[in-house]
Amino acid sequence: MGTDLQQLQRPAVAEILQARTEIELENLRVKFLGKTGAISRLSENMRNLPKEERPRVGKVLNEIRVAVTKALSERLTELQSKAEANKLSGIDETLPGTPYRIGGMHPLTLLQDKAVQVLRRLGFALAEGPEIETEWHCFDALNTPADHPARNDSDTFYLPDGRLLRTHTSSVQVRTMVEIEPPVRIIGPGAAYRRDEIDATHLSQFNQLEGLYVNRGVSIADLKGTLEYFVHELLDPGVQTRLRPHFFPFTEPSFELDIRLINGGNWMELLGCGMVDPVVFEQINAKRGDQAYDPEKWTGFAFGMGLDRLAMALFGLPDIRLLVENDQRFLAQFVS
Ligand code: DAH
Repeated sequence: MGTDLQQLQRPAVAEILQARTEIELENLRVKFLGKTGAISRLSENMRNLPKEERPRVGKVLNEIRVAVTKALSERLTELQSKAEANKLSGIDETLPGTPYRIGGMHPLTLLQDKAVQVLRRLGFALAEGPEIETEWHCFDALNTPADHPARNDSDTFYLPDGRLLRTHTSSVQVRTMVEIEPPVRIIGPGAAYRRDEIDATHLSQFNQLEGLYVNRGVSIADLKGTLEYFVHELLDPGVQTRLRPHFFPFTEPSFELDIRLINGGNWMELLGCGMVDPVVFEQINAKRGDQAYDPEKWTGFAFGMGLDRLAMALFGLPDIRLLVENDQRFLAQFVS
């Protein structure tokens, strides 16, 4: 039987080395090494051999199994590298590639990201609210009376069910205070909507960044210091600021913060701000059903900044519509 066996090895290895595909090779593996393959069958037959012959035959069988296994794996490697080489033939890897064009950030995103970064360093956390709001969150809670012009159909987009597209991000203040107890320090960047005639300086959708800080003993000095620091970090330490008295229903006192980008240039209005009106705290308490925002204990400041006008001033845009037209010639200028 020994010689029989040795005669098996040579043709088996030869056959394997001639296999032309991986499938052929797999069939040969089954043919020789599979459960019902030639080598397994011979191993079974060992039972019928006289005892003293078994170790010798077993050894030969094992050598054959090793040789066949080795041939299979060598041939597999060969076939695989041939396939790989075929795939690459016809490609000249010394030619320059086709450059892949990566997009850039929209100028408004650049500005918003930077503003958020600065305010996060000051401990403000990001907050959110829906763009479709209730009248209560957008107006009532913010002490805006039913006959206030902002609430007119002509100024605000109302849905048939009475909800509306938020006219400012100040509703995020309300959402946050209803949810969490003081102290709070949040910013809410996002879109707001008004029924403006569209022209070079107006769109019906624009972008704001809201801020709210409520704690014990928050004062106008905190408001002023925070906003000055914010403006200097966001724009330039050389930018001048001034607080100008104003009116908002939800802050008392209220201000507008103006900035002057370059010395001697014009003042421009940057944001509205003020000390949270105690009436707002009372509205929140009524909604929450507790006294979490007891106006005797807590004070706060709030601010709301428009991003679009600022982007226009910073990037020298003559028309606000450039921000929404997605003209590649415009956008490509902001790719860094
Ligand atoms: N919501 C105001 C607007 O859209 C801006 C504003 C003013 C926000 C004063 C505030 C604030 O948080 O305190 O014109």
